[in-house]
Amino acid sequence: MSEGDRTRWDRTYADRGIPTTDAIGVDAVFAAHRDAFPAAGHAIDVACGQGAGAIWLARRGLRVHGFDISAVAITQARALAERSGVGGRCRFDVVDLDDGLPGGPPADVIYSARFRDRRLDEPMMGRLAPGGLLALSALSQVGGSAGRFRAAPGELCAAFPGLEVIAAGEGQGLAWLLARRRGNEVPSG
Ligand SMILES: C[S@@+](CC[C@H](N)C(=O)[O-])C[C@H]1O[C@@H](n2cnc3c(N)ncnc32)[C@H](O)[C@@H]1O
Repeated sequence: MSEGDRTRWDRTYADRGIPTTDAIGVDAVFAAHRDAFPAAGHAIDVACGQGAGAIWLARRGLRVHGFDISAVAITQARALAERSGVGGRCRFDVVDLDDGLPGGPPADVIYSARFRDRRLDEPMMGRLAPGGLLALSALSQVGGSAGRFRAAPGELCAAFPGLEVIAAGEGQGLAWLLARRRGNEVPSG
């Protein structure tokens, strides 16, 4: 990411300040499916911002690793996790996802809210543990403006064809996908 874009994100988060614990929560598009998220295991939050989603996952019982380009957001996420009593289950790192998805163990949850980088689709798929849950939301061209950073109609489902879809939707400028990788199938016969 360019230095200018990074600075813009830092300024946005500095202006916003550390959120209160009321801000902690899963993206609204997944709210009706909270119970689909596991309460143990390892999760990653891709472009985690101030960590609202990651900390929600940690509060459920998951160990979470969040990445974001903004050092300001990452500092705020660490503070919010401490304040929420889940600092020990959270790790937040400054990462430029333009350089790819950082390595790590298979993830039981891959969570990424309001962020889209098509180059990460394959690495995320490769990282998802058998039985793991993928929860993605992104700006969409459906009900929104056109633009290369917005998901095209049907794009999220098409990008992850092998997964079992739990919920998906698009409209009002947003697209989302909640889907599970099938577990290790026991061979029959
Ligand atoms: C719309 S915000 C969403 C933040 C968070 N997921 C949420 O739901 O509040 C998009 C985030 O993507 C991050 N981002 C954008 N480009 C990035 C990159 N190349 N590497 C890492 N993070 C990036 C920004 O810093 C910002 O925090």
